[in-house]
Amino acid sequence: MARPHNRDTVIPHQPGGSSPVYPLRPASSAVSGQPASGPAVDAVLRASARPGSVISTLELSQRSTRPPDHESENRALVALVEAMTAASSDRILETLVETARDLCRAHSAGLSLLEEDQKHFRWPAIAGQWAPHLGGGTPRDFGPCGTVLDCGVPLLFSHPERDFPYLASVTPCIDEGLLIPFDVNGQTVGTIWIVAHDRSRRFDAEDLRVLTNLAKFAAAAYQTRLSMSALMKANQELREATSALTNANVLTKKLNEEKRHLQDELLAEGASNDKRLRELDLLRANVARQATAKHFIAGSAGMQEVLELAACVAPLDTTVLVCGESGTGKEFIVRLIHDQSPRARGPFVSINCAALTETLLESELFGHVRGAFTGAVRDKAGLFEVAGDGTLFLDEIGEMAPTMQAKLLRALQEHEIRRVGAERTVKINARVVAATNRDLRAAAGAGTFREDLYFRLGAFVITMPPLRERRDDIPALAYEFVRRSAARVKRDVQTLSAEAMTVLMNYHWPGNVRELEHAIERAVIVARGTSIKVRELPPEVFQKPDDGDTEDNLDLQAQERAMIARALERFRGNRRQAADALKISPVTLWRKMKEYELVE
Ligand SMILES: Nc1ncnc2c1ncn2[C@@H]1O[C@H](COP(=O)(O)OP(=O)(O)OP(=O)(O)O)[C@@H](O)[C@H]1O
Ligand SMILES: [Mg+2]
Repeated sequence: MARPHNRDTVIPHQPGGSSPVYPLRPASSAVSGQPASGPAVDAVLRASARPGSVISTLELSQRSTRPPDHESENRALVALVEAMTAASSDRILETLVETARDLCRAHSAGLSLLEEDQKHFRWPAIAGQWAPHLGGGTPRDFGPCGTVLDCGVPLLFSHPERDFPYLASVTPCIDEGLLIPFDVNGQTVGTIWIVAHDRSRRFDAEDLRVLTNLAKFAAAAYQTRLSMSALMKANQELREATSALTNANVLTKKLNEEKRHLQDELLAEGASNDKRLRELDLLRANVARQATAKHFIAGSAGMQEVLELAACVAPLDTTVLVCGESGTGKEFIVRLIHDQSPRARGPFVSINCAALTETLLESELFGHVRGAFTGAVRDKAGLFEVAGDGTLFLDEIGEMAPTMQAKLLRALQEHEIRRVGAERTVKINARVVAATNRDLRAAAGAGTFREDLYFRLGAFVITMPPLRERRDDIPALAYEFVRRSAARVKRDVQTLSAEAMTVLMNYHWPGNVRELEHAIERAVIVARGTSIKVRELPPEVFQKPDDGDTEDNLDLQAQERAMIARALERFRGNRRQAADALKISPVTLWRKMKEYELVE
């Protein structure tokens, strides 16, 4: 037989029966082990004119009663006390029904407890033939248990088919049952029942007494057990809360440690940032000092930026590419980078890639072994090896032949070279710095220079501004070159006239600083006094207005001076002819010549 846990499948609701809500009622004083009577019982028993299933326990007093068996009763009570310490509180209820069945020699005994919804009973303990019905979930009006709860007194019942037809249909059927209320903590929470499934057993007043005593004792034990469980649960919760608090404390401690650690790291990083900044400041100062010491003029914003970049990259091992028009000072910057790098004590080796044939360049850079080619009479180390831990300067890199470009790229990538004609490779450590006056990016784009080599070399690019874009450097450069040239050619030339300086300022200097240096040297050589005059500058400087420079063309005086100078040159200093050509009088020409310092 299936256990009727689910009333819908095993014990269906009584057909046509209502499911009234019964409030928990206070325990009745009538539960005393004496046959019950009273108005509530009478009302129930008189509710129907016909004979019903429920009978007053007064009936029991009319039956012959067996003598009490105190010994068995005591054993039962001891078993109940022992059950108090069991893990599950239901164990007490199981012991209760087992002992009830044994002591009353019933065929089945059980306990029905009202569910929280007050509409259903569950059967937490059943002993005997009805055991398969353990569990429950039966509606309150399914059997006489609900009636006992309504009356609050013990009841006897038989003939279930009269009021509880469904009970009668369940196997094994019930012939007689005795039910008493189960009171816990002053409230009736369920019913204890014993049943006889056939006429072989008839209950008597002694059964009512025993059952009542058992119920009282079990209720007390059950209540104690429930309180203990509640206490244990509260304890457990407290333990969990304490452990959660401990965990939280541990976590907070860890977080605090982590925070302190991060703060320390931040401080350290701040300190190292400060250190880096101080180092960079130092490098900047060193670069500026070296530039000044070597009389390298870099007052303009453009050149200040170049020095800044050089100071930043100098301490690193990064490959540097210095770009710029011819004569802008690329080599000076490359040298500066080497001098300010940790490799300053190592060699600075430079090679002009445009000056050598491809084969020669390969042998120069990578070296060769004896017999590698005609004339290779002995082993020779290449410049990569010669540079050692220093710097290798590849000037005019833009002119390098494509096959050499590929070999150079391999050397840069693998940090090793192979001497021409050699079997084995040699490790290299030199830092490579290259320079070019070509637009290498455009050349790489156009396919005339290897793009991969360009990206390899151009890890850090410094672009030198042409002189015409930093004219404010011209006066300082001019004075510096006057000083240098005068010392070199041993002439007492000390300065330039204001006019000569204006000419220098207005010229567009396609050859950049180198052209300016040469122009001044020539002027120092040809100068007739201590101050360089306009006429002593190279003709191309003072004669040609800067066609491409619209700003210069706006200088009317410069234009006029240039035209007069050109006319004088064309007519070999003949003022009359020059004046005619210029369509001015010879007197005006003379005045202007003096004004523009064109008088020899
Ligand atoms: N800012 C400067 N201050 C003083 N002298 C300078 C400056 N710039 C360049 N010079 C001088 O100009 C000349 C040319 O400079 P450098 O050889 O470094 O130029 P470059 O860009 O390498 O030229 P090229 O492309 O022709 O090789 C050198 O004599 C150098 O000393
Ligand atoms: Mg150069």
